[in-house]
Amino acid sequence: MVRQEVDGGVAVLTLANPPVNALGAALRAALDGALAQAIADDSVRAIVLAAEGKVFVGGADITEFGKLQQPPSLPDILDRLDASPKPVVAAINGVALGGGLELAMACHGRVSAPAAKLGLPEIKLGIIPGAGGTQRLPRLIGPDAAFPMMLTGEQVSAETAAALGIVDAVVLGDLVAAARTRALEIADSGALPRVRDRAEKLTPEAREKFEALAAEAVKRDPDATNVHALARAVRAGLEQDFDAAVAVERAEFRTLVEDPRSKALRYAFFAEREAARVPGLPKDTPRRPIHAAAVIGAGTMGGGIAMCFANAGIPVMVIETEAGALTRGLDRVKGLYAGSAKRGSITEAQRDERIGRITGAIGLEHAAQADIVIEAAFEDMGVKREIFSKLDGIAKPGAILASNTSYLDVNAIAAVTNRPQDVLGLHFFSPANVMRLVEVVRAEKTAPDVLATALDLGKRLNKLPVTVGVCFGFVGNRMLERRSRAGERLLLEGALPHEVDAAVTGFGFRMGPFAMSDLAGLDIGWRSRKDFGGRAPVADSLAEMGRYGQKTGRGFYLYPDGARTGTRDPEVEALIARVAAEHGIARRSFSPDDIVARLMYPMVNEGARILEEGIAARPSDIDTIWINGYNWPAWRGGPMHWADTVGLKTVAEALSRFAAETGDDSQEPAPLLKKLAEDGGRFADWKAA
Ligand code: 3HC
Repeated sequence: MVRQEVDGGVAVLTLANPPVNALGAALRAALDGALAQAIADDSVRAIVLAAEGKVFVGGADITEFGKLQQPPSLPDILDRLDASPKPVVAAINGVALGGGLELAMACHGRVSAPAAKLGLPEIKLGIIPGAGGTQRLPRLIGPDAAFPMMLTGEQVSAETAAALGIVDAVVLGDLVAAARTRALEIADSGALPRVRDRAEKLTPEAREKFEALAAEAVKRDPDATNVHALARAVRAGLEQDFDAAVAVERAEFRTLVEDPRSKALRYAFFAEREAARVPGLPKDTPRRPIHAAAVIGAGTMGGGIAMCFANAGIPVMVIETEAGALTRGLDRVKGLYAGSAKRGSITEAQRDERIGRITGAIGLEHAAQADIVIEAAFEDMGVKREIFSKLDGIAKPGAILASNTSYLDVNAIAAVTNRPQDVLGLHFFSPANVMRLVEVVRAEKTAPDVLATALDLGKRLNKLPVTVGVCFGFVGNRMLERRSRAGERLLLEGALPHEVDAAVTGFGFRMGPFAMSDLAGLDIGWRSRKDFGGRAPVADSLAEMGRYGQKTGRGFYLYPDGARTGTRDPEVEALIARVAAEHGIARRSFSPDDIVARLMYPMVNEGARILEEGIAARPSDIDTIWINGYNWPAWRGGPMHWADTVGLKTVAEALSRFAAETGDDSQEPAPLLKKLAEDGGRFADWKAA
């Protein structure tokens, strides 16, 4: 796991623990042994720590968290690095994250390849750096610069790292050779620069700035236990000596590892990666080449999808039926790129390159050259079937034909073609150029290589593709529909829109369902219920009154003078009471916890049905969809993980109660949920038969 080569007085220790050189027990033991050997070897004057592969070190091994750690621990190794009588220089060839950067910071020098990225992303896992990161980074770059870097967990480029002082130099040529030279220079100088001894960046001004930033961060997210802990650990480094401050950090780290928030975030990390593995789809499934794409429809979705291709360097043609719609769509895309360039998130050159990759055309025949065609037309089965039957005669053999439908039966769409094996659904989320989730809808006849290509393409587009089966609304919207229905029921039974929204934001969503409906437009759900059936008495009454939400200044709430945040409207509250009376429903009050249960348990129940039907392969895929497509708070791990933490018995019993209260049998726990509840089981342990 660690290769050792001694040459010219320098021992080069190369970490080789693919895929990301995570610092698991075996690698730690190998590294510790190699270091001890190099230190003991009289022919060695200096040591270089290098790594094999594209990554330097992706951090501590997250799978070990919460388990008994095998020695040597990472902090112990870093102590030995600190105490080494011979200089150690890190040759950072690629990403150095978390424990990886902490390892590099405990070395006496650091050189970096230009493509390397450095960061302490622990905050995203609900923890804080636990191997001296909260102490060494402030000593290297000042607490005022280190705190925000650890607070966001964002990576910095090698160039930025050099400018900040995290690395000594960025090396264009042979990185290991440069590290050897640097290590020998340090050996010759006779002095060992140790980050722990540095204090010049711990100025009173930097401390003051840090305190202001910490106060702001804690105020912004008062419930985030790790943000508080991060502030305390950094502060300890300013008030206590290094070893005492490291002990504070370590204690905070240990507590956080056991925090349910961190457990949920770690679960979500692995869930996301697990989603890439599709049961029954071997890794070596052949892929079809994708060099050019076509998108049918220049609306908001079509334009957003085209941007995903352009951003990934794939030329894309946007196809419309008439010139006005095409021009409007392309102008909207250009406007979005111009905005990004203005904000500095892309350069002007990137803006022009990306715009240059998007062409427009009138008429489906222009899709003939595309390797993949994504239909993003009106959500209507007739429209989609017409497009696909035409595409069947136009697209080149082997082209993938995808529909961006959010609800419709992809089997029925595929059936109008003579190549159903080439057809699948790619359900992007709005705004498509921003949201990471894509539901990849595997239809009955979708060929394995088409699915594998779509999953690869999703990654190329910087998306998070999750495979789902065909059913109305797939995974996300099918469960969302349950929540919407429960929301309406709550209104009739006595809760008011602002109470429901407050309970949901209190739970951790950025927006409540009624504020969300007002933002999206009440006309959308109203029209789709007209098309697909279903009734939402309150929302439909509001839409019938022309109250479409923010865009009309009134919906569930009032938005006077273009306000973005709604205020309560007595008229709406009176309407709700009237509709409830018409339905003979006696109104009462609900606690926030009760509201959350009534909204979310039916979703969990639908998730169980989705699993029973094989629409999702595993509970964690459902959670990945909800976290990345619907803003489910990641620290609650998604609906299925959350239900496990609540206890499935509690969930199932509550659902039976709701069913009895409302007379709605569809609220009864699904057989899978019932069985797990009876057996004291969890979704986490469930495997498809
Ligand atoms: N521990 C354990 N496994 C890890 C890991 C880690 N730190 N980082 C990545 N992996 C695994 C992934 O689960 C995946 O496994 P799989 O192939 O079985 O699904 C595999 O390595 C490859 O990972 P990715 O698919 O994410 O590979 P990419 O090339 O897309 O990305 C990466 C590489 C940027 C390193 C990314 O994996 C990543 O961001 N990793 C996590 C980084 C992180 O959070 N580090 C901090 C850890 S906590 C820590 O260090 C505590 C310390 O302060 C004490």
